[in-house]
Amino acid sequence: MELKTIAILGPGGNVGNAIITELLKDGPRFTITGITRSTSTYKPPPPITHRTVDYTSFSSLQDAFRNQDAVVNCITGGATHYEPSKLIIDAAVAAGVKLFFANEFVGEITHEAFRRLPEAFVGGKCRIREYLEGLGKEGKMAWTSLNGGPFFDMYIPNRHARIYGSGNQPLHWTPLPTMGLAARNMLRNPNAIPNRPILLDPISPPSTVTQSTLLRTLEKLLDTTFTVSHVDVDKIHRNALIVLEKWKAGGEPEEGKAQMGKAMKGLGVCNQFYEGDDDGRAEDLERTVDNELVGVKTMHLEDAVRDALERYGIDC
Ligand SMILES: NC(=O)c1ccc[n+]([C@@H]2O[C@H](COP(=O)([O-])OP(=O)(O)OC[C@H]3O[C@@H](n4cnc5c(N)ncnc54)[C@H](OP(=O)(O)O)[C@@H]3O)[C@@H](O)[C@H]2O)c1
Repeated sequence: MELKTIAILGPGGNVGNAIITELLKDGPRFTITGITRSTSTYKPPPPITHRTVDYTSFSSLQDAFRNQDAVVNCITGGATHYEPSKLIIDAAVAAGVKLFFANEFVGEITHEAFRRLPEAFVGGKCRIREYLEGLGKEGKMAWTSLNGGPFFDMYIPNRHARIYGSGNQPLHWTPLPTMGLAARNMLRNPNAIPNRPILLDPISPPSTVTQSTLLRTLEKLLDTTFTVSHVDVDKIHRNALIVLEKWKAGGEPEEGKAQMGKAMKGLGVCNQFYEGDDDGRAEDLERTVDNELVGVKTMHLEDAVRDALERYGIDC
């Protein structure tokens, strides 16, 4: 499989922009089309072609995907619900797209801690993965996805650190430019990655990356001391699970919905920081990381933090 024409959905967003930045470094190797809604304010950098689409229309999507070798879905996390995502995928199959890059860009969605989050709140990434797996097996369209963890650069605190739990739990965080680089290499060499997720863990050694080491590194590089508050993540976890059980039992009035929103935030936090029961930690030990396969060099935490500070400024 060779990919030359690449359509990026949501090209002006965090992920879309990071991927395009890397693809443009390959000069004329790729022909890139940025696809947005008609209401978009996106201004494509040359030589990117811009095209708008109606995400609710199969024919509009199919037209937009015609002659595209790959579709990279980077639309916002809130728009990853099952039916609209499936419509995009079905249109890509009908248009003859060779590789579909799934809109995941989070940690491992097969982990129990992620799977239990209700779709109504976090979208349909798990079911969409299953759907793509089926299409891949049937030979209708190859797919891939990129999974790391939270985007490291989006979570630098502002001289006040909030530590969730002990602060010593290993974290799997990924700098956003590294996601872009990996995506570019996956599109360059698609035969190495079809029909499987690609797992990144680029900050080494992973077991030393924790909230505490991140904080110490920031303090060292900024030559300052942060104030610190501690969050009882066990309590957040317990309360969120109680609300989740009530929600599953059904019949939620409006008040239940508001509670559930809070619980989802809590479970999102716990997905990273909870240190109690298994919650995917056992699965963590079996992680096979694909850094090398997609040309990502591991970096030390200090270098990753220095890069992020240079890129976003010391008050980001
Ligand atoms: N791991 C992490 O820490 C992390 C952090 C952030 C995001 N993510 C994941 O990365 C992926 C991309 O997120 P992002 O932050 O890059 O997105 P984003 O910047 O929030 O949005 C990207 C684009 O989505 C388009 N969009 C917004 N609402 C839409 C809708 N209803 N239908 C279709 N398009 C819509 C907009 O483009 P136009 O208006 O130009 O059409 C927007 O520029 C998501 O899967 C998200 O869950 C992961």
